[in-house]
Amino acid sequence: MKEGHIFLIGFMGAGKSTVSGCLHSLYGMEQMEMDAEIEKEQGKAISRIFQEDGEEYFRNLETALLKSLKNKENLVVSCGGGTAVRQCNVQEMKEQGTIVWLAAKPETVYKRVKNSHNRPLLEGNMNVEYIEKLMSARIPAYRRAADIVVETDGKKAEEICREIRKQCSDIR
Ligand code: S3P
Repeated sequence: MKEGHIFLIGFMGAGKSTVSGCLHSLYGMEQMEMDAEIEKEQGKAISRIFQEDGEEYFRNLETALLKSLKNKENLVVSCGGGTAVRQCNVQEMKEQGTIVWLAAKPETVYKRVKNSHNRPLLEGNMNVEYIEKLMSARIPAYRRAADIVVETDGKKAEEICREIRKQCSDIR
């Protein structure tokens, strides 16, 4: 049985943070949100990191943060929407635990993120068509990375958590 972290991957607004919070309250799992951790460590918001240091710099921070999780145990890690795009990140996550892809339709994502201003990739592109385009480009990476897939549209967080737990116990 494979123990280790649970990595929640998927597009912005797929519900990674909400589901992480729910796994924490239902099963007492300790959680870590990559974006929040990076903001804390850098002392500035993700949007400012993108603006001042660039996307590549942010991606390198994500990779370094994943590597540092080797020293921790059984976390639920809420990844950024782009974390699973780098193959070396996927490799790192596979070595450290189980990757769960939270899938959501572009319309669902739009409803969840439309009022947010801390997602630089959607700033000025906040519409279903753009979300659909970026999501289609990412789906092959999410699919390749995932050990488990859970569709989230129209589901409550508790239901998603139960599915994750069931599927994890089937494969772990
Ligand atoms: C990104 C998603 C964001 C954040 C950054 C880049 C992406 O995280 O990491 O804005 O490339 O999809 P969330 O998925 O938590 O919004």
